[in-house]
Amino acid sequence: MSRAKPVLQETLRELYLDSFPECLKLADLGCSSSPNTLLLLREIIDYIDATRKQLNKKEPMFQMFLNDLFHNDFNTVFKLIPSFYEELRREKGGDFGQCFIVAMPGNFYGRLFPDHSLHFIHSSYSVHWRSQVPANLVSELGSPLNKGHICLARTSPRSVHEAYLDLFKMDMTLFLKSRSEELVPGGRMMFTMIGRNASVNLLEDQVSNIWELLGMTISDMVKEVLLYTIFVCLCTNAYLCACPLNALCELFRIRLTLFDWCSPKKEDYKIFIT
Ligand SMILES: C[S@@+](CC[C@H](N)C(=O)[O-])C[C@H]1O[C@@H](n2cnc3c(N)ncnc32)[C@H](O)[C@@H]1O
Repeated sequence: MSRAKPVLQETLRELYLDSFPECLKLADLGCSSSPNTLLLLREIIDYIDATRKQLNKKEPMFQMFLNDLFHNDFNTVFKLIPSFYEELRREKGGDFGQCFIVAMPGNFYGRLFPDHSLHFIHSSYSVHWRSQVPANLVSELGSPLNKGHICLARTSPRSVHEAYLDLFKMDMTLFLKSRSEELVPGGRMMFTMIGRNASVNLLEDQVSNIWELLGMTISDMVKEVLLYTIFVCLCTNAYLCACPLNALCELFRIRLTLFDWCSPKKEDYKIFIT
């Protein structure tokens, strides 16, 4: 989140200076349910408040839609709202616009909001979850193609990589189409997601390591009760670290942060702006 902060601020600044909305309508997709859920809103409010003071503008109102899947524990988030409002009142005093927090449960692979109703759509570490497990992960004879893995792994056969990639393209097309209909003209979107470096040989890819390790652990546990193949097939999940697609690069400013997962050091970070 801290690495994404300069991009968030730059995006908000552009958005605010373009239109000076009376009420900024925002959405966080895949908001989850922890004390961190409201951190993004606090950052947005602080930044817009500082910017409008510099420009001597009246404080705007904020409406924040928190989205996650239907089974997300929104009640936990709701319980944090009174202290969030209280802290805002204490720190900002009367000289501050009102803030309204709303939940919008639903699947972000489809429409969530009315046409042209949002100024800013944000999502952090959520869009790399696919809408479902790819359908075609079994051979013509019905045997599992991704045997022994719970997700796309370095040793998964090519056909499994293709199945995940096809689903990624389908999901992202629907996701971007839906969001483009929901944004007001001149609105902005910002998504932070895990990806992989397309030029790295899959066998040397480090992003898969975490999930492969989890898969190996589950497999070992399941082997103990001789349910290996059945269980691991059922556990195949919908997680995909995608390479940036060329089509997306044309549409958006994409910033890539390369990270060495095996031995993270400060000098391993590089940011590219395209
Ligand atoms: C790793 S959490 C990210 C939480 C938070 N945004 C953050 O950055 O700390 C991913 C969240 O995305 C949600 N999610 C995954 N697929 C989704 C979908 N199709 N529609 C809505 N939410 C989804 C999950 O339920 C989960 O709460």
